[in-house]
Amino acid sequence: MGRLIIISNRLPFSIDKTGEGLIVRQSSGGLVSALKSFFERRGTDSFANQYSEEIWVGSVDSTEEDWRSAEAEGLIDADFIIEPIFPPPALYNGYYTGFSNSAIWPLFHYFPTLVEYKKEYFEAYLKVNQLFADKIASIYEPGDVIWVHDYQLMLLPNMLRQRMPEASIGFFLHIPFPSYEIFRLMPSDWKRALLEGLLGADLVGFHTYDYVQHFVQSAKMIVKVESQFNTIYYNNRVVKADQFPIGIDYEKFRDASLDETVVGISSALEEKFYDQKILFSVDRLDYTKGLEHRLESFEIFLALYPEWRERVVFILNVIPSRDSIPTYNERRKLIEERVSTINGKYSTLQWQPLIYRYNHLSFDELCALYQVADVALITPLRDGMNLVAKEYIASCIDKGVLILSELTGAASELNEALIVNPTDTTEVANAINQALIMPLMEQRSRLSYMQRRLAEYDVLRWLKDFLEQLSASKKDQDALR
Ligand code: G6P
Repeated sequence: MGRLIIISNRLPFSIDKTGEGLIVRQSSGGLVSALKSFFERRGTDSFANQYSEEIWVGSVDSTEEDWRSAEAEGLIDADFIIEPIFPPPALYNGYYTGFSNSAIWPLFHYFPTLVEYKKEYFEAYLKVNQLFADKIASIYEPGDVIWVHDYQLMLLPNMLRQRMPEASIGFFLHIPFPSYEIFRLMPSDWKRALLEGLLGADLVGFHTYDYVQHFVQSAKMIVKVESQFNTIYYNNRVVKADQFPIGIDYEKFRDASLDETVVGISSALEEKFYDQKILFSVDRLDYTKGLEHRLESFEIFLALYPEWRERVVFILNVIPSRDSIPTYNERRKLIEERVSTINGKYSTLQWQPLIYRYNHLSFDELCALYQVADVALITPLRDGMNLVAKEYIASCIDKGVLILSELTGAASELNEALIVNPTDTTEVANAINQALIMPLMEQRSRLSYMQRRLAEYDVLRWLKDFLEQLSASKKDQDALR
């Protein structure tokens, strides 16, 4: 077996320069945590062991000098090979802040009014994808398996195909692929380039059946490909598209309940809030997460169900993200104003309804919060999957209710959650009450169905399914020649 080359915009670590020196932090987001779990299983799992070497290629948004110093100080500790790419800052800005996060991200999450179609952004996107292609071409050896991840690198599979026609190339999109009517809003040359970029892969993976259908329909309408079910015929090649709903490292979250540090934090929280029910949510700061609607729902809940005042606390943790982009920063202000308004209106001398944090959470803190939360309120306006929902379910021991937006990929798997529409703030307020009064027996029964499913289709299964299907697609491809 050859080597496995994983490629994502972000490496699993990012470097912060602080007054006390360089700090290496694990990057946030589902993609990184999924792939990291795979690497951690090496040595214990035969599948994870099958590659002769693993290489992770990603860009670094700090300077090369800082990265090299962090390496020299031994701060970057990984048991796989890291191949960093250092795009020049202005170029990176056009690619990351620009085309990736001000065009593709809002459009694919159904926020077309937030999209900025700027030519210079697309050009930067093209150039950074090219930098990735150069790096991979320089390390590629025949027999290697190449797996490209996410919307920042949609042009890359085709660039690699041009340079390495025989390579085995997979692509996975971690965000929604929107319906054709939304996708077609993008200027013609760019939408065609994105689709042709993906069609350079042998296998293109998505979280849900709907995303697969949207992609195939867009490829038919725009690139005029022929297709039969999920098999696309393009340029004398066969490209497969399929669904692979990403899972979590189930055991890691379940076993956290036995960890001493986690138990210490959760016991302290239980003691502090002994006479209150805990509502919890954690999200990256992003307009797709529906934080303002969520706060409005909580406010309506306090108004509609006054019996819960002083008996419930909502711990809202927001993780800093993409703060170089104005739409993100503006959200932060709106959210903080809303939090103050609700606290100002409903707090008493002994009680404050909302505890708001804008900060990174450690894994131990996160697990402790999942464990003590009576209710997790996860209500994005749009989300490719949402792993927080799955992590919460895996962490619940003998109680817990998940309120989940129907507009997440996870909703198609977690049917026993209380499924809500996040824009219907009264429906969400009623669901909070329903969750708080749900009998323990019912909570446990709903949890156990979901836990069984998550334990079975965990992150390793996801990885195996994708990589096995990639290898099968490659064989079909070779048989055509
Ligand atoms: C989502 C995306 C990832 C991204 C993560 C964090 O999960 O699918 O590709 O890495 O958000 O966003 P950031 O912009 O900080 O990388």
